[in-house]
Amino acid sequence: MASLRNPIALDAVMNISPVTSDRIVNLGKAFRASKALLSAVELGVFTALAHGPRDLEMLRTDIGIAERGARDFFDSLVALKLLERDEVGRYRNGLEAGHYLDRAKPTYIGGELDNFNKHGYPHWQFLTQALKTGKPQNGAATGNRFLDRYSDQSVPETFTEGMTAGARLVAPAIAKFPWDRYRTVIDIGTAQGALPVEIARVHEHITGGGFDLAPMRPHFESYVKKQGLSGRLRFHAGDFLHDPLPSADVMIMGRVLHNWDVITKTMLLNKAYNALPPAGALIVYERMIDDARQVSAPGLLSSLNMLIMTEGGFDYTVADLTVWMQHAGFYDLRVERLTSELSMVVGTK
Ligand SMILES: C[S@@+](CC[C@H](N)C(=O)[O-])C[C@H]1O[C@@H](n2cnc3c(N)ncnc32)[C@H](O)[C@@H]1O
Repeated sequence: MASLRNPIALDAVMNISPVTSDRIVNLGKAFRASKALLSAVELGVFTALAHGPRDLEMLRTDIGIAERGARDFFDSLVALKLLERDEVGRYRNGLEAGHYLDRAKPTYIGGELDNFNKHGYPHWQFLTQALKTGKPQNGAATGNRFLDRYSDQSVPETFTEGMTAGARLVAPAIAKFPWDRYRTVIDIGTAQGALPVEIARVHEHITGGGFDLAPMRPHFESYVKKQGLSGRLRFHAGDFLHDPLPSADVMIMGRVLHNWDVITKTMLLNKAYNALPPAGALIVYERMIDDARQVSAPGLLSSLNMLIMTEGGFDYTVADLTVWMQHAGFYDLRVERLTSELSMVVGTK
């Protein structure tokens, strides 16, 4: 019997504990909800529903799944507030899903989720192993997940689309940067160039382009051409570990530094400083960790993703970045939130 001197034991017996196990259990099985969403994107559920409401059988055949799990799958998506079901049993996209997960819309971010599904989710089962060994667990032969993935000289569509989806999330906030004070931009590690495209679209005087590994060239050039911006944005091929960086009034490094160890991070910041003209600006954006390392779960979990995916990468705080940027020579550093997860730090040369 519980001791009266031990209130916790008594609470447990009386079932009046002020805490419940719900949050812990829900966290422990959060992967189920996550995978339901990732599979729905993979199967094109939201794109199919963008054509209009579908009943169970129509939706099931549209996306090509078996009868057994279909109803539970679609109703799970209803319970997760991604889909809605009307009184006659027809499914339709919820507001967010309709806006962000219809492949035909320019606001589509499913590419980023496809990336999580294909290139992240399978490797996270090795987190314990990564923690024990301190070694990446993504099976990359070269240790560089980018070079490794591009080693056949082609870049998977899912990867470039994922980067584009990620860049689209930050683009509206970065477009509000005082671009009227500058003429040129170079996005370092640009992937398809989604970010310079969004900047150039809003600010007609801006020219420049993106820098990335050579296999990214056709993806950049076809994306920029589709947006009608080939005359203003060009691709610079190179390896930032070995080559100098091209110059522009503003340089951007988005979700690049976290892939590397501290020596490479500072080397890249020094290269950016050297490439900038006097009074030029560097924008670094990332899932920054709060300085006290207590509340930024997305940044901290992103850092664990770097543990699994890279040789020495890690995410960092604004305070860490401030020290590295000041050391490279940047001054007038300021931080701005871009989305609920991502922030940018801007420094001037
Ligand atoms: C995580 S992605 C970030 C893409 C984009 N900036 C964004 O925020 O969505 C990193 C980019 O850096 C590029 N990259 C990786 N290693 C590189 C290298 N050694 N030289 C040039 N680019 C590189 C990759 O090809 C990829 O496009």
